[in-house]
Amino acid sequence: MKYIKLYVLVAFIAISCKSVQEANTTVQKPVTVEVDAREIQGGMWIPSLLEGMNETEMMQLGSKMTAKDIYDVNNSSLKDAIVHFNGGCTSEIISPNGLLLTNHHCGFGAIQSHSTVEHDYLENGFWAKSYEEELANPGMTVTFIKRIDDVTAQVFAGVLESMDEASKMKLIDQNIDKATKAAQKESWQNANVKSFYDGNQYLLFVTEIFKDVRLVGAPPSSIGKFGADTDNWMWPRHTGDFSMFRIYADANNLPAEYSKDNVPYKPKHYLPISLDGVAEKDFTLVFGFPGSTEEYLPAVAVDQIVNVLNPAKIEVRDNALKIVDSFMRKDPAIKIQYASKYASTANYWKKWIGENQGIQKSNAIQKKRDLETEFSKIVAEKDLVGYSTLLADFENLYKEIEKVSLARDYWIEVAYRNVELLGITFRVFQLEQAYLRGGEQAFENAREATLSRLEGTYKNYNATVDKPVFEKLVSLYAEKAPKEYLPANMKGVNFLTLTNDIYTTSKLTTLEGAKELLSGSAEEVIKKLNADRAFAFGKEWHTMFYTSLEPKFQELNVQIVAVQKKYMKALMEVFPNKRFFPDANSTLRVTYGQVRGYEPKDGVYYNTTTYLDGVIEKYVPGDYEFNVPQKLLDLYEAKDYGQYGENGKMPVCFIGTNHTTGGNSGSPAIDAHGNLIGLNFDRVWEGTMSDMNYDPDICRNIMVDVRYVLFIVDKFAGAKNLINEMTLVHPKK
Ligand code: ARG
Ligand code: ASP
Repeated sequence: MKYIKLYVLVAFIAISCKSVQEANTTVQKPVTVEVDAREIQGGMWIPSLLEGMNETEMMQLGSKMTAKDIYDVNNSSLKDAIVHFNGGCTSEIISPNGLLLTNHHCGFGAIQSHSTVEHDYLENGFWAKSYEEELANPGMTVTFIKRIDDVTAQVFAGVLESMDEASKMKLIDQNIDKATKAAQKESWQNANVKSFYDGNQYLLFVTEIFKDVRLVGAPPSSIGKFGADTDNWMWPRHTGDFSMFRIYADANNLPAEYSKDNVPYKPKHYLPISLDGVAEKDFTLVFGFPGSTEEYLPAVAVDQIVNVLNPAKIEVRDNALKIVDSFMRKDPAIKIQYASKYASTANYWKKWIGENQGIQKSNAIQKKRDLETEFSKIVAEKDLVGYSTLLADFENLYKEIEKVSLARDYWIEVAYRNVELLGITFRVFQLEQAYLRGGEQAFENAREATLSRLEGTYKNYNATVDKPVFEKLVSLYAEKAPKEYLPANMKGVNFLTLTNDIYTTSKLTTLEGAKELLSGSAEEVIKKLNADRAFAFGKEWHTMFYTSLEPKFQELNVQIVAVQKKYMKALMEVFPNKRFFPDANSTLRVTYGQVRGYEPKDGVYYNTTTYLDGVIEKYVPGDYEFNVPQKLLDLYEAKDYGQYGENGKMPVCFIGTNHTTGGNSGSPAIDAHGNLIGLNFDRVWEGTMSDMNYDPDICRNIMVDVRYVLFIVDKFAGAKNLINEMTLVHPKK
């Protein structure tokens, strides 16, 4: 019954996005339906498919928006204000002049690239006082989603159950190609097809990519990254994790390469900003581009991640981070050089530790096993023969892939990522491969690309930092790796001598040296490379990766993917009343929930909101992570919060039950009417396992209160020019 009532209400709410803004002033009749909020949270939903269950649930949680307010192809809607930021984060438009809000950690690389020891924008912040002062970022893109179409039927056309996996995949790929080419779109738009529910549904996205995105503003790291790695993934949190950019377009408001003649982009929609703040149980919607989750893995897979793969990766990074950190603390130039790399390595290192603890504490593996027992029972009762071997298939395949995955993760962590010199040898190794496979011409093409990539690499490379990392990680690998994946040149070796040898003789430790090695004819280059100690060492490991490790991994993984696809379908059939959302895949999603505290452990309750008082409590003068700028201390002393404070206090962050993941950083937190209330940037420690096991009791996303953003822009930075562009509203008054 209550569902029917809700639908009637839905029908009366106007549909265009203009109504989202008008809803601020119109008094809506509140929907008071008793629901267990716990049951209707979690999930990252497809914005074009919200009508029905999601719309109902959102209203039950307090939303006043319709599905069409959020996503509409024909009228402007919330989605027109949401953009994928540089492929990895989310950002939203907050002014009619294409002003973008995202996280400080999402803009970090750009802010770093404009910084020098003399003009250190990471340290001191940056504020453009006019369009002319905004800084271009070559290579940076933002992507709009114009339309989402379901193309599942086209993608499965002609695919028969009787076909073998390889033939199915081939036909599916061909169909995807056809659907992409047939997509109706403008010449400046793009189309791509993505798989959902592990390959059981396919959606086509028509997108618009803007390439002129300029840096507008960033607070100093002592605000934007306050608490740094100690506070990362933690609540209570006090980070003002935001930065601002602007989209530029050509004279027709269309995407264009950077040009000084480009003009600020005029959006179809931008988010009004609420000055009224949030209270516990307020509705929140987070709209963005979550990267990837694995919510439907079998217990055996989660067990392997938690007990085998995560611990290995954590140990590698633990060692690398300690070494890099000791250099960064000593030398300000190294601190800038390694800032971005260090932050991203530390980020997942800490996340995996939290994830492991959460999975163990919530008993997630056993819970998955229980679900699987139930699944098997129903499959047997209903005689669903096609599904009867799925769990056993998983057991066998995961057992078989374990060592391969472990060796592969080690290769990625050590040889590709954390020992930078080995990462460099890998790129040069690929150049050699290009020659061996494609001859002179292929070599010439690859040489240029390799050199230009290496220039970027060496800009932030320091062999003195890298050398001890090499010694530590390579000897760790030799000790811990599955024996069958130990290259011959690592057996019975003195790693100290080896390291000294390599770092004193190799030409690959500097850009000049690398350029020298890569000059001359293809044959000369190959000869010189093979005489280089670093190259020769790396080559053996990379060769093993390419010839035995990766092929074996792919062979098994294709089978796992096929079983997972069937299992996903089976779960939905066997448990028809459960809520199944598709795993994150870097496509635009809606997640909703409420502002809520939580109980991290027995006897402890975490409140929903933190205040500037907490920043001051954490303040350690001159500290690496917890310093506070004098100006902020002064504003605190004077309680000079302007229109942004609340009862004499300045709110900083709040938490909610929105189901988010990496990629949701920079996503807007939106209120019941479609106004911006916060900026998503993290999750709480106890709940980082939400990528495999969302639990509404302890999984919380962390948002900067938008009033703190405005306070910093206005009172701290004095960037009134930016405040004047925005539309500030009072939906609660
Ligand atoms: N944990 C957050 C996310 O996954 C923020 C990371 C940025 N901060 C840091 N200290 N590394 O991206
Ligand atoms: N901090 C993450 C990001 O950068 C968000 C998260 O993992 O919760 O996307």
